[in-house]
Amino acid sequence: MSASMEGESRPVVSVVPDDAGKDKFKKHDQVAFYRRQMQGPDLRYRALLDTLVLTERRALFELLEPDTQRRLLLSVAPCRSGTVRILIDELQPFKARYRVPDVITGEPQCEQLRVERQTKDSVTLTWSSGRHRVCVWHLPFRLEILSGDEVVVTFNSKGKLWFEALQDPSRAASNGSKPQDDDAGLWKETFQQFVDIKANGPTSIGADLRLHGFSHVYGLPEHADSLQLRDTSEGAPYRLYNLDVFAYALYSRLGLYGSVPLLVAHKPDRTVGVFWLNASETFVNVHYSSSDPQADQTPPVKRRRVQLHTDVHWLSESGVIDCMILLGPDPQQLFTQYAQLTGYQALPPLFSLGYHQCRWNYNDEADVRAVDAGFDRHNIPYDVIWLDIEHTDGKRYFTWDPALFPDPVGLQRHLEQKKRKLVVISDPHIKVDPDWSLYCEARDGGHFVKDRDGQIYQGSCWPGESCYLDYSSPATRAWYSRHFALNKYKGSTPSLFVWNDMNEPSVFGGPEQTMPKDAVHYGGWEHRELHNLYGFYQHMATVEGLITRSGGSERPFVLSRSFFAGSQRFGAVWTGDNVATWEYLKISIPMVLSLSVAGIAFCGADVGGFVQDPEPELLVRWYQAGSLQPFFRGHSAIETKRREPWLFGDEVTAAIRAVIQQRYCLLPYWYTLFHQAHTSGLPPLRPLWVEFPREQSTFTVDNQYMIGGALLACPVTEPGAQEVTVVLPGTSEIWYDVHSAETYKGGKTLTLPVTLDTVPVFQRGGSVVPRATGSASCTAELQQLPLSITVALNSDGGAAGELYLDDGHSFSYRDRKAFCLRRFSMLSGRLLSRNASEEGDFECDGVIQSVTILGVKSKPSTVTVRVSGTKDASPAFQYTEAHHMLTVINLNLRVTMDWEIEIC
Ligand code: GLC
Repeated sequence: MSASMEGESRPVVSVVPDDAGKDKFKKHDQVAFYRRQMQGPDLRYRALLDTLVLTERRALFELLEPDTQRRLLLSVAPCRSGTVRILIDELQPFKARYRVPDVITGEPQCEQLRVERQTKDSVTLTWSSGRHRVCVWHLPFRLEILSGDEVVVTFNSKGKLWFEALQDPSRAASNGSKPQDDDAGLWKETFQQFVDIKANGPTSIGADLRLHGFSHVYGLPEHADSLQLRDTSEGAPYRLYNLDVFAYALYSRLGLYGSVPLLVAHKPDRTVGVFWLNASETFVNVHYSSSDPQADQTPPVKRRRVQLHTDVHWLSESGVIDCMILLGPDPQQLFTQYAQLTGYQALPPLFSLGYHQCRWNYNDEADVRAVDAGFDRHNIPYDVIWLDIEHTDGKRYFTWDPALFPDPVGLQRHLEQKKRKLVVISDPHIKVDPDWSLYCEARDGGHFVKDRDGQIYQGSCWPGESCYLDYSSPATRAWYSRHFALNKYKGSTPSLFVWNDMNEPSVFGGPEQTMPKDAVHYGGWEHRELHNLYGFYQHMATVEGLITRSGGSERPFVLSRSFFAGSQRFGAVWTGDNVATWEYLKISIPMVLSLSVAGIAFCGADVGGFVQDPEPELLVRWYQAGSLQPFFRGHSAIETKRREPWLFGDEVTAAIRAVIQQRYCLLPYWYTLFHQAHTSGLPPLRPLWVEFPREQSTFTVDNQYMIGGALLACPVTEPGAQEVTVVLPGTSEIWYDVHSAETYKGGKTLTLPVTLDTVPVFQRGGSVVPRATGSASCTAELQQLPLSITVALNSDGGAAGELYLDDGHSFSYRDRKAFCLRRFSMLSGRLLSRNASEEGDFECDGVIQSVTILGVKSKPSTVTVRVSGTKDASPAFQYTEAHHMLTVINLNLRVTMDWEIEIC
């Protein structure tokens, strides 16, 4: 079936990445507010120090720009978690400016400031222990954040503070500030045939920050680029503007589907973050002082001593300056600080960490059943099969095509018998169809976005003419959520979950294929103010719908293409329409790492590549990489050939089966990592520098990464690879190849020979990894399997790790504390299993069947198991001299009990 049969097809002709959307999207110099700020006059704001007001929560100062006589109000508020919030608004705005709601979770706990020192030039403020200070300078205005005596961050270091005041349009027309010929794009801006009318005139804001001593910065997803952000002095700034970019260009800083305005800077002794809470179109320029020509001069020209720093310049189209500085000082604390502000990663239902099989489209019920049976026939585990837009009745979401899917409940029951799930797509556009009750209800209930003239905005998407739900309205979100109720969503059952796509939002034929900025939302806010929040809000409403559908008891699963800071609270995201080439496989790694650094921890890329057909070798390598990323889904576009894992011959099937099975075995570990993300903000996928913060050599690595603190992964992403080069950090570390048990010393670069089957993964000495043993057809079956743990000893013979368990699907871990957190620790030949949380109370029959200890120097003479209340036992064990590997078998130790194994 063709995508165009029922409605529209996507208006992109070429699938060659370099051509994709060539002129459809704006370059930075085609954006008026960016030009205005970059070419604007130098402003010399001064802080009027005698206007200081200290309140319980903040310090307030007035700022004055003498030439323009612009007065701003600066608020500085330190929060208990190690964050300083800098907020700047107009002193007396003509009307309220947009402040991003719903992203910050709860009011951050602020600290009482006190004045430490005041001179005519500056005021120094401190709080709590006095460890941190803020110094506000009069002229030129700048704000320094100090830790001890060290200046860590300077706000407005280069004087780029920019704030366009709102104007009364009628006065602006009479006093000449609304010119006829509006080259600066103040009240009107034209791009191609699109005219953007700016009802509020120019409203842009900007500021710069200097990060002292830092020469590596990360974050700012989503871009198809390296993990470490590039210096933008040459070339384009990073753009944060959510867009539907089919087959996006690689190594580009243009905006993609989602935006997280969090930048993370790291140096050996400190990690800091800058969170720029703004949902309008935003650009970020990054300039490393290390790339200054003066800094590179080598003798005989005497090298100028340049204090390393990174300058970051943020520019947004609208809103207020709301900039939070996260002070770390270590990566873990930084992730927690960020999670305290924007929320922790939702704990996913266990099934959603399994493998997902998707395609645009599985044609009909028989097709779905056949694919489902194929997995069983080939002994490949999977949990979820997905239905794309063609499953609906004419792209009307919440409906089923009556000919192709006449019995959706029967289909879901069939899957549910095997404990598998169905995910269906639900996009934000609603087909204009006066005969469709859902459309009429939304229209009559005022749930659609309006155009600038107050009429319902109409755009085009898959169904043809469509209207767009205004998810920024709480009433619309509640209305939408109710449509997921089982009695409302006909054909749905509790095993149906949801996929939100096209929610940038995508508008075919719209400016940059999205909604015009002068469309109007709830509260009268223009779309320009909240564009980057649109997908976030749909995701929120869908999640709410699934939770409510179960009476609040079941965890939801919702995948969204578009996202913003805080989307981690709702579920998963993926990296959109990639292409089946090696380059896209490669870029998937820095892309998911950037997302992880910015808090969006449940993320992945379409395995195999969405557009075009992968050669079998690429498909295998992509499964290998995808199996080591948080969200693991195979997906392909409608024009591609079928590519279920068994269609390419036995060797390919076996290779894919092996990695999916390994993924399933490792799920107890993944689930524990998600528990950690959910409670501490630390992402499961971590750049090497997060685990090795003092090792400079790791700062630029983005083809390999850590899964939790224990496993280092380096997926093969080269065609015809015979060997790979792996950086094994840490001179005092020991690394164990998880497949061969081969041992390597850290602080080295290893050249590892590889075959098609090789997936280079190493366990770090000092860690413990839990696994399921045996094979299962899905995660529900996997939960019944016994566990094994692998203890990898460090050079002191020690190791530690955790295991988290709960029912895998409900909120009872939260509401009734029905979970279990165990801690394994080994020292001096004794391995202990202890409860790691007093709170948890979870009944389960799970057992640990075997324990493998890596790094045992000689064959033990005895191994003793002690379980309280029982007699000591001497279990069977095997020792492999060559790999210093001890395996203790047939243990049958209850997971929830305390026990101990001693080797002598
Ligand atoms: C978009 C999505 C893709 C989906 C297609 C049809 O291109 O990114 O995953 O298959 O729309 O719904």
